[in-house]
Amino acid sequence: MRKILITGAFGQIGTELSQVLQELYGFDNVVVSGLEHSVKEELIDGVLEVVDVTNGNQLLNVVKKYQVDTIIHLAALLSAVGEKYPQKLWDVNMNGLYNVLEVGRISGASIFTPSSIAAFGPTTPADNTPQDTIQRPSTIYGVSKVSGELLCDYYFLKYGVDTRGVRFPGLISNTALPGGGTTDYAVHIFYEAVKSKYFECNIAAGTYMDMMYMPDAIASIIKLMEADPSKLSHRNAFNISSMSIEPEDLRRAILKHIPDFEMIYKVDPVKQKIAMSWPNSLDDSLARAEWDFSPEYDLEKMTADMLTSLRKKI
Ligand code: SER
Repeated sequence: MRKILITGAFGQIGTELSQVLQELYGFDNVVVSGLEHSVKEELIDGVLEVVDVTNGNQLLNVVKKYQVDTIIHLAALLSAVGEKYPQKLWDVNMNGLYNVLEVGRISGASIFTPSSIAAFGPTTPADNTPQDTIQRPSTIYGVSKVSGELLCDYYFLKYGVDTRGVRFPGLISNTALPGGGTTDYAVHIFYEAVKSKYFECNIAAGTYMDMMYMPDAIASIIKLMEADPSKLSHRNAFNISSMSIEPEDLRRAILKHIPDFEMIYKVDPVKQKIAMSWPNSLDDSLARAEWDFSPEYDLEKMTADMLTSLRKKI
């Protein structure tokens, strides 16, 4: 990676990734982009461009203007909001990805696209979910993720575009909030614990999902994009995870730091149904073997860091 374009840069991942990449690759070598209304100069300083990924020409012009050699494509709608607006999700997630891949084909840029635990469905083996297994998701977001994995593979096989990606679990972070996802509860629980020591959890006790702390997610993007391509057997859909947890695990971890923290359940039926259709825990041994994926944060370490950071912020 020498000249990097990030799409959807003002979202949960992009806000933190932009700053890390600016430090590592040089301030001027990272083009930070998003929809016009999302661009917040007070959040990210640097080379800013308005890019709507559903506009292929706009995307291509920015890639040419800065001679971009790597696109980190983060612009997307998440799972729960997708169930409200399936047509919009398809437009942004699929047409956006198609445009990014076409720009990769024309310009020769490498492309990182996140897939997700949502690429699995109710018929997938839920425990220690294998790298290669049944993928019949029941959400429009999941359908877009499986399609995206396949489309990225196709562009690699057909045109030699250097496409790479991981299946992200729920991401927990303290800079920008996630929006419209099913795993968002695992972020909000920390904010509410610090703000009011009280949290209404919209996912039922006992619902296991994979999660990861943002520094590990960012490290995984960089490691995969810098990996020797000849070692990558599954370019676009590596299972990765740091922890398989349910709401009670988070409650117990927070209680160690905030003994009077209280949590009650107000389950959201739409989100619960989505969560139940996703794996409990992924087998990520292939990512560990092929490009040395090795997360640093477990539940305890992440909880301590989240609470320290949020106490400073709030
Ligand atoms: N975190 C995402 C969501 O909940 C899953 O990729 O939609």
